[in-house]
Parts: sequence; C-alpha cells; structure tokens
Amino acid sequence: MSKPLVGILMGSKSDLEVMSEAAKALDEFGIECEMKVASAHRTPDLVQEYVSGAKARGIRIIIAGAGGAAHLAGVCASLTTLPVIGVPIQSKSLNGLDSLLSIVQMPSGVPVATVGIGSAKNAGLLAVRMLALEDAELGKKLESYRKKMSDDVKAIKL
Ligand code: RP5
Repeated sequence: MSKPLVGILMGSKSDLEVMSEAAKALDEFGIECEMKVASAHRTPDLVQEYVSGAKARGIRIIIAGAGGAAHLAGVCASLTTLPVIGVPIQSKSLNGLDSLLSIVQMPSGVPVATVGIGSAKNAGLLAVRMLALEDAELGKKLESYRKKMSDDVKAIKL
C-alpha cells in the first residue's frame, strides 16, 4: 500500500456518510487517502497536531467537512500551506447554509476552496484534478472520466 496523499477530516462521526463520498471518488482514481474525525471546537489540539504534521508525512491536499458553525476547513488552512478543500455539511437547523457561509467566507490571505453543500464527491474530484497537474497518468484517467460523463449525457434518448 502506498502512502496517503489526501487527508480527509470531519468535525464529527455524523459527517462520515457524506465525507465517504470524497474517499470513494479518490479511490476510483487509485488515490490513497486517510480519514479522521477532528473537530475545530471539540478537539482543537487534535486538529493542530494532525494538520501541522500532514505535509511532512506526504499529505498533499486536505479535505475538511463540517456542519453548522463549520470552522474546521478554515482552521486547517490557517495551520498549513497545503491546499484545503472545504465541504459544508447539511445542518438540521439551517439546511447547511450556515456551514456553507462559515467555510466560504474566509479572510483574505487564508484560502479554502469550497464545494457545494454535501458535495464531498466534488471535493474528491477537485483533489484528483490538483494531483493530476503533476501526474500524466492521472491526467489521462481524468480525461476518460470527463469523456464518459459527456458520452453518457449525449446517449440519453427521451
Ligand atoms: C459539526 O457539528 C460537525 O461537523 C457536524 O456536522 C455537526 C454536528 O455534530 P454532532 O453533534 O453530530 O457530533 O461540528
């Protein structure tokens, strides 16, 4: 088994079902990842420990999913120069709008690439695109993926 290139963090175990979609997308392209529950509010020490050591351990991209007052992705981005992709998890009270705004409205200088509410699959695919910049084989797989999507839509007969 090779070393994981993508670290997937989530604020709670209740985020696992959604965040597994990111892992699935990465797996489709043969990219190793690791998943961990670490909360910006409940376990800030764990977040700090994980993120500050991530680059040295070979992690290239961090995907962070959280809901509500969703500060996890932003905190991750404040602790590393690795690219961070934030996944707003659909919350009960505000349907994820709180999560989305908490993740997307970062202060200037600390970027987080934010995907749609619950769009962990797109977070995984965005990570694949980033890794493909320096991996021609992966780039070819992405081209096939894109072509298949296009072919599937064109094949629809109504
Ligand atoms: C956030 O609060 C988590 O990311 C989760 O989306 C939400 C609810 O967490 P639990 O109360 O289910 O642990 O921190």
